[in-house]
Amino acid sequence: MVYITRKERFNAAHKLWVKSWTEEKNLEIFGKCANKNWHGHNYDLFVTVKGKPDPLTGFIVDVKKLSKVIKDKIIEELDHKNLNIDVSFIPENVQPTTEVLVMLIWEQLSPYIEGCELHCIKLYETENIYAEYYGE
Ligand code: NI
Repeated sequence: MVYITRKERFNAAHKLWVKSWTEEKNLEIFGKCANKNWHGHNYDLFVTVKGKPDPLTGFIVDVKKLSKVIKDKIIEELDHKNLNIDVSFIPENVQPTTEVLVMLIWEQLSPYIEGCELHCIKLYETENIYAEYYGE
């Protein structure tokens, strides 16, 4: 089995906040991500698929097609959006953390992966922290 990864980028705003908590408690738990008037992140998204290379092309997947699907189904939905309120596949009642986003991106993308298998969604929120999801 061989794994191949496509990297895409998007920028988005969010706020992590629990309504029933005080502002102090929200700032204590969520830090800068609880900023009242939103803030943004430059996200790096890594989509890894797996399969066996085709004997003729040597490809697991046509990465141009994979890139187009990621752009159409994920990046168009998330880029320059407010993750708390703008995105149809992010429910209003969830915190748009990196951990939650990788699961939602998996659910949103997996039906459109053809000819190979989705293996991992990895999302960097900053250069120092990322979440990974393997569909389980
Ligand atoms: Ni944040």
